[in-house]
Amino acid sequence: MKFTLTGLLSAALLAGAAVADSYPWERLNKDDALLLVLDLQEGLYSLARDFDATLYKQSMMAHASLGKAFNLPVVMTTSAQSGPNGLLPQEILDWYPTSPLIKRQGEVDAWDNAEFRAAVRAANRSQIIMAGIVTDVCTAFLARSLRAEGYAVWANIEASGTTTALIRDISNDQMLQAGVHVVSLFAIMCDLMRDWRNTPGAAELLPWLDKYLPAYGMVARSHKAAIQNGTIIPGEAALPGKKRSIRTWRRGEGDTGKFD
Ligand SMILES: *[C@@H]1O[C@H](CO)[C@@H](O)[C@H](O)[C@H]1NC(C)=O
Ligand SMILES: *[C@@H]1O[C@H](CO)[C@@H](O)[C@H](O)[C@H]1NC(C)=O
Repeated sequence: MKFTLTGLLSAALLAGAAVADSYPWERLNKDDALLLVLDLQEGLYSLARDFDATLYKQSMMAHASLGKAFNLPVVMTTSAQSGPNGLLPQEILDWYPTSPLIKRQGEVDAWDNAEFRAAVRAANRSQIIMAGIVTDVCTAFLARSLRAEGYAVWANIEASGTTTALIRDISNDQMLQAGVHVVSLFAIMCDLMRDWRNTPGAAELLPWLDKYLPAYGMVARSHKAAIQNGTIIPGEAALPGKKRSIRTWRRGEGDTGKFD
């Protein structure tokens, strides 16, 4: 058998296409998406040991705040909340006073609860963004149940917590194998936004990033400070980059994006 370069390239492209077909890149669309706040309960919080506790609280609240940032429908659910698992943080409850909160009395997989299934179906959205404590049970069980029902699912890896990194990694692998999009908070935010010029876009989301993803918020603060009252210090002048004029970008009245 003779292998030509073109033949090998075509074979590689076909193999690539087959892999791509088995796991298509689906885009999140804020008009199709539903946000789930799943068992992010104050009692269960202490089981989220695969992240620094301070960081994890921030990630959990950031996940829950996506509903406000993008005006998404939200469904909340808790597991045995009058027992040790505890309540959802009051801040989250205050953000969504009219969203359904399904208090499961025993079902581990939220999909086993008829009221929860009805709330998800009533939202009439095909894309589900979710995170829960713990990753291996609450998140991975429900994510696979939702995949089996035909939903597209985005698991926010930063807002699900569990007892060990080993358990987190295997649980994320299981979700990947079920076709769940296992993604970061920033990936979810950017895919929902699509374009910094959209609404919500830079104007609304830089304040959100400053609060929930300070790595980016600080970039923007530093840029703002440099433009408003910056000075080129010795050594910087010698770095590559030409002096250009300062321009201001505006979008109507929306320049003072505000969260909360
Ligand atoms: C559900 O969503 C689909 C697609 O967006 C729409 O065509 C349909 O009218 C919606 N159904 C209800 C009951 O809102
Ligand atoms: C602007 O920068 C100068 C030089 O660093 C500093 O002296 C001044 O206080 C700054 N002004 C404001 C309003 O921050």
